[in-house]
Parts: sequence; C-alpha cells; structure tokens
Amino acid sequence: MCGIVAYIGHREACPIILKGLKRLEYRGYDSAGVALLTPEKNLNIYKKSGKVSDLETSIEGKDLHANTGMGHTRWATHGVPNDVNAHPHLSGSGEFAIIHNGIIENYASLKQALIKRGHEFKSDTDTEVLIHLIEEVYKNNDLGFEEAVRMALTQVIGAYAIVILSKQDPNYLIGAKKGSPMVIGVGENEHFIASDATPIVEYTRNVIYLHDGEIAIIKGTELTIKTIDNTIKTPYIQELEINLESIEKGGYEHFMLKEIYEQPRSILDSFRGRTHINDAMIAMAGIDKFEDKLKNVKRIIIIGCGTSWHAGLVGEYLFEDFARIPVEVEYASEFRYRNPVLDESDFVIAISQSGETADTLAALELAKSKGATIFGICNVVGSSIPRFTDAGAYTHAGPEIGVASTKAFTAQVTALILMALSIGQKRGTLSSQRLRELLIELETIPSKVERTLATDPLVKIIAEEFKNSTNALYLGRGYGFPIALEGALKLKEISYIHAEGYPAAEMKHGPIALIDEAMPVVVIATQHSYYEKVISNIQEVKARKGRVIAIATEGDEEIKNHADYVIYIPPCEESMLPLLATIPLQLLSYHIAVMRECNVDQPRNLAKSVTVE
Ligand code: F6R
Repeated sequence: MCGIVAYIGHREACPIILKGLKRLEYRGYDSAGVALLTPEKNLNIYKKSGKVSDLETSIEGKDLHANTGMGHTRWATHGVPNDVNAHPHLSGSGEFAIIHNGIIENYASLKQALIKRGHEFKSDTDTEVLIHLIEEVYKNNDLGFEEAVRMALTQVIGAYAIVILSKQDPNYLIGAKKGSPMVIGVGENEHFIASDATPIVEYTRNVIYLHDGEIAIIKGTELTIKTIDNTIKTPYIQELEINLESIEKGGYEHFMLKEIYEQPRSILDSFRGRTHINDAMIAMAGIDKFEDKLKNVKRIIIIGCGTSWHAGLVGEYLFEDFARIPVEVEYASEFRYRNPVLDESDFVIAISQSGETADTLAALELAKSKGATIFGICNVVGSSIPRFTDAGAYTHAGPEIGVASTKAFTAQVTALILMALSIGQKRGTLSSQRLRELLIELETIPSKVERTLATDPLVKIIAEEFKNSTNALYLGRGYGFPIALEGALKLKEISYIHAEGYPAAEMKHGPIALIDEAMPVVVIATQHSYYEKVISNIQEVKARKGRVIAIATEGDEEIKNHADYVIYIPPCEESMLPLLATIPLQLLSYHIAVMRECNVDQPRNLAKSVTVE
C-alpha cells in the first residue's frame, strides 16, 4: 500500500524518483507526487490524482532541477484519491514535507488536538496530521529536525514508512520505519530510500533494510541509523540479489503474462538445491531446525490472505496426506481478532508473497505471544514476516510485479510440497521409496508446466467466447478445490467479472440455482481420485444448460462428450495437480481481462502489498 522513493546525492533527483515510482506503482496507483528541493532552498511539490504517467505529463516544462527529493504513489486509505490528498504533504508553515506508507491509527485524536491548538489542514489524510505534529514538536521544544521527528514519532500509534525533508536544509533527509517496509540504497556519495529495492537496483547493489523502530538520518553523504529511543545502530549492508532484468517486462505486454510464463523456472528455483533424490531426502534448514517438534506436533495452523490463503488450503491437503497432521487454514484477518486456542505445542505457518501483509503479520504476533512456533513462507527476502518468524523457507519466484499473484502462488505450493514431504519422512508417515517417487515427479513439473503453457492459443479462443460473461463458476474437488477458488479470484480481480469457486459437490446445495445457458462453469476434471464424481457434477451443470470448460488430463477422450471446451494438462501425481491446473486458469483470466481492456497489472482498487488492515 503506497510506494515511497527518495534520493539525496549528486544526480538529478526527479528522473530517479519518477522511474522508481513506476516500479513501485504495483503498491498503489490512486495518485502520485514528488517534492523536489533545490540547493537554493526552493521546495517544489507536484502532485496529481491518477498514475505516475499522469503526474509526468502534468509536470512537463516545470522546474524539476534538484539533487534532493522524494516521491509517492498512493493507495488511498484516508481521503478519496484526488490531488489534495496526494502526497507529499506539507507542515503548516510549509517548512517540512513528508511522504508516508502506512496508517496513523491515532490520527483522529492527534488531529483534533492539533486543530484546538490552531492547526488548519488541507487534506483528509492521516499523513498531513503527522507532519503538522512534527512541526509543532520542532517549534515548541526548540529541537533540531531529527530530534523533532523522533519525539513526534513517540506519540504515534500505527504503521509507517516515512521520509521527511526540511526546506531549510537541502542536504538533510530523514526516513523512519515501523510496520511498513523501507530499504536504503547506499551509493557513492549518494543515498536512496524506497519501499523495496526495485527503484534502487540500477544505481547500487548495497542496501540496508531498516528495522521497525529505526530512523535513518542522511546528512549530506553521511548516513546514521538510530532507534527511536536514540541509540545508534551499526547498519548491516547487504548485497541485493535481484537484477534489473527481473523487474522489467522483458518483451511481454504485461508483467502478469511474463510472470505466468516464468513459472517453469520459478517452480524449479523453489525446489532446486533442496531435493536429493538418490538420498531420498529434502534439505530445508527451517524444517530441520524444528525436527523434534514436528515429529510430535499435534496440529499445524496455516495463516494467509487471498491467494496465499489458497496456497494454505493446498498445504492442508498436503500435510494431511503425507505427514498425517491435522491442519487448520485461517484467514489472517479473522484469526487475529478471534480468541484462538493456541499454545507452545502449535506450529504456525504464515504464507505471504510480500512478507508485509499487515493482517498476516498481526496474526503471527498473536501466535508468537501465545508461545507457538512460527514459520514463514515468503517471497520477498528481508521483508517483515521472515524477520519476525522463528524459521522459514523462501520461495524463489523472483520479484512479482503484476498485482495478481501467479508465480508466487505456484512457488508457495512448491515450498509446501517440500515441507509436507520432509515432515512426512521425519514422522515416518512417508516411506523413502514413496518420497523418491514424489521427488522424481516434482522434477518433471517444470517441463509439464511448459507443456501446459502451450494451451495458451486454445485458452485465448475460450476467453474470446466468454469475455462478456457477467458471472462464472469454478468447481473442483480435493486438490482441485483450492484451484477453483484461485481461478475465480484471478478472474474477478483483473477482469471484474463476478466469479465464485466452489467444491464441486457443494454446487447442488445452492449455486446450481445460478446455472443457465449464460453461465461459464470451469471444472477441474483431471483423472484423479474424484474423476467420476466430477463428471457427474459436469452432467448436472450440462442438464441446466451451463457451459463447461474442463481442465482435463491429456489422453482423456471421454471428457469431450461432456464439456464444451477441454483444456488438457499433462498427467501428474494428484498432490502436484495445483502446480499444473492453475496455469490455464491464470491464462484465461489474463486474456479475458486484456480483451475487456482492463488494466491487468494494476487492477482497480487493489495494491500488491496490503500493509493496512
Ligand atoms: C491475489 C493476490 C492477493 C494476495 C494477498 C496476500 O492475486 O495477490 O490476494 O495474495 O493480498 O498477499 P501476500 O501474499 O503478499 O501476503
């Protein structure tokens, strides 16, 4: 939610900031703005509702010269998306400017108190309240800029990644973080601040991931990191792993399509180096660390949101099948506000692509406070969840930029397969022989995904046929059920067609009433344990004139007698079905969205990283 970029150094700041904002646009695209501070202490602020490209057009011909500056791309929380609510925001006197990602939860009480003391606000944002507060602390206490920021932040409840500059001092930039991500790029006599490393990677590979409660003070070319209670910290400089190529479209029309096509590689990268077929063994340091606990664990709780929650459902089936452990899969947002029964014996797994989802993080905090062991499956290295957990496994999907999750999902499922197999072996519920067979099968999956991607031309024809539908149903059983949910979510989020995923057998308990000749029904009907039952469900749909698109196993000729369209995927072990069956559903949503002229990579109202409740 919201992307921030800032620069201080010897280069022109504006092009760096605009380019960085475009890379961060996946985090929100309701409005964009920049603040540019010249050596002569002129502070120019330009902001515009809409995309970064709208801002770019609106600032053509304006004075953009500055070596210090910052920019913001917004996902609206407080106040509608318009020019006034766009960041940066100014303090009352115009001395200080701020950009902010996060939510100041006590902004209303702070604002009321400030209004009583004579402050006037231009916007509806929580962010403007914060910069007024900083200025008030600065003036009333005769403090320096840095001290004022620090003192003001002690009054704030909520989450923030902020950057503040002071008009009086063009060589001074302060960043602070709590709950929202912040990375600092350390170049030659220059510094960058951003929500993630993508705006930084082409200038320097040296970065520092700021921790919660830390403040970065950049004065000229000097960087100091302190805690909010004024303790100096030694920064830990890491080398970036991502490269420029991985964050560009590489010839594809959209990031989403590129990311769908990257799946043979991202799945491979997520198990490469962890599987040892000859020794019938899986090497996952995070799992090995808790071997004793996992051998006797009574239950696993999986937490996630959206697509990651769907991966969690796949995980439930995997852990039950291979490790014989009862599993509960929870929406993080619900779990955190219930009074869950949890203790030291529980093993909690959080799944999150971004590693920053606020609800998932809060649910983990709750689990940790009850003494549970917490484990993370995340894609973004150095993000908040992996830093918070006791252990974890990274998915190696590479940066996922399209807002709709694709390759991160299959990478999460790959990690879950490895975990379930490894724990199953340790618990003695999975023989070495069977483990070997499954690992051999896993090795074939990247090429099977490749083959599945070759269904694209047929999927495009089907998309053309159904692009004007207003509703769609997705049905599946067993491992096909989470895939039905995921297929429906993909369609609704990027094409704005209402879609529901259901366990195929549940259809007759309600949704069947919706079926008529206008209703596309996508059915996962592969030749696995539920095949005959799913065929019966298809017949029930056909009897009500529904239009069936079946995802079926190569070589199954029979299914053609039942379905209107058949998309064939290669045969596979049932537990690996999600890795293949998801692919045509991603492609279907993609093509329908493109045909409906929707913004595939940045669907309306969404953001990639949901760092607010
Ligand atoms: C859907 C999608 C979202 C995310 C959800 C959780 O395509 O991307 O549903 O899966 O917001 O995000 P992470 O995985 O970053 O915690």
